[in-house]
Amino acid sequence: MDKPVSLTNDIFWVGVNDHKTELFEAIWPLPHGVSYNAYLIRDVKTAVIDAVKNDFAETYLSGIREVLGGKPLDYLIINHMEPDHSGAVGKLLETYPQMRIVGNARTAEFLLHFYGIGRNVTVIKDNDTLALGRHTIRFLLAPMVHWPETMLSYEEQANILFSGDAFGGFGALDAGIFDDEVDVHFFEDETRRYFSNIVGKYSAMVQKAIARLAGLDIAVVASTHGPVYRRNPRHIIELYSSWSRYKTQEGVVVVCASMYGNTRRMADALARGLSEENVREIRAHDVSTTHLSFIINDIWRFKGIVFAAPTYNGRLFPLMESVVEFLENENIKNHVVGLIECHAWSGGALPVMEAFAEKSGLEVIRPVISARCSPTEAEFNACRALAANMAQALRLPVA
Ligand code: FEO
Repeated sequence: MDKPVSLTNDIFWVGVNDHKTELFEAIWPLPHGVSYNAYLIRDVKTAVIDAVKNDFAETYLSGIREVLGGKPLDYLIINHMEPDHSGAVGKLLETYPQMRIVGNARTAEFLLHFYGIGRNVTVIKDNDTLALGRHTIRFLLAPMVHWPETMLSYEEQANILFSGDAFGGFGALDAGIFDDEVDVHFFEDETRRYFSNIVGKYSAMVQKAIARLAGLDIAVVASTHGPVYRRNPRHIIELYSSWSRYKTQEGVVVVCASMYGNTRRMADALARGLSEENVREIRAHDVSTTHLSFIINDIWRFKGIVFAAPTYNGRLFPLMESVVEFLENENIKNHVVGLIECHAWSGGALPVMEAFAEKSGLEVIRPVISARCSPTEAEFNACRALAANMAQALRLPVA
């Protein structure tokens, strides 16, 4: 569904849906696609807010032409320069050579370095406004959500927050575009996956941006990915607020790697133990078959994590090492962790996992379990003890 959709009688969604790209940023799977949302305000002056990925420029331009109906385009406001949004800027400028491109000083740098565009650029500062006629846009700089030039554009008459990537998520908008037209539970999961994969590292900056919204009357949140929130705009802001404060719910993610099934048997015993302890939200992932994206999404949701992995080449199994490295790089907080390892002759997995937990300030729940070659009854008993202690820790406030 790539036809323009009205937000009001003179503000339109002119975005596109991408079902072609398999990996967003060449990393993150898109089993349900993604939308690149752009918007158009048709006033005395006309303004498009954000562009789309270059591959979809023709669809984007055709939506803009349809809404403008022969009027010129006066402005392109750029909230974010990552090429999934800025890719079509050059073609838009070719089509409307008189158009001014509006962004901040960092936006101007990226325009030059990505596309060699140095003309037609109007540089705004934080809190500047742009009057279009009936509509005025106020610019709120929000650096590092999640690039240095990121900003929000607030439309002051209809109280629409054009938020760039902030409050966005994965999932194409194939039918409805509004939160009252789509399955919000599906989009909540895809939005947390987007947040945890891409924006989570910049949680402190997300908090700063959200703090700036406190005094604003926001009727609609219109981001660059995922649904437009008009029924419950505060809900998506609250979700981002909660995720960026690393708030979690009761549950455990069991992340396992196992070459010959020995570590797997311990992970299974642990998971069964958790179930017997009345933990109802348990997600088991195998790092060899589940993409990091989905593991990180669940970790962002649940308070408990159990890492169960073998030693490989004297270190942690490589696919598990990439999980813990990513979490450390994201500054993961507020979790309790269980550690299980299996080795044949020399250990090596456990010190890597312990160092990660210590650096990240995560509480390690006892016992830490280490098996040689194949778990014995002693290790299975330890798994049950770990499950009991983990269940108890889940129900306590994080230390
Ligand atoms: Fe949707 Fe950061 O680009």
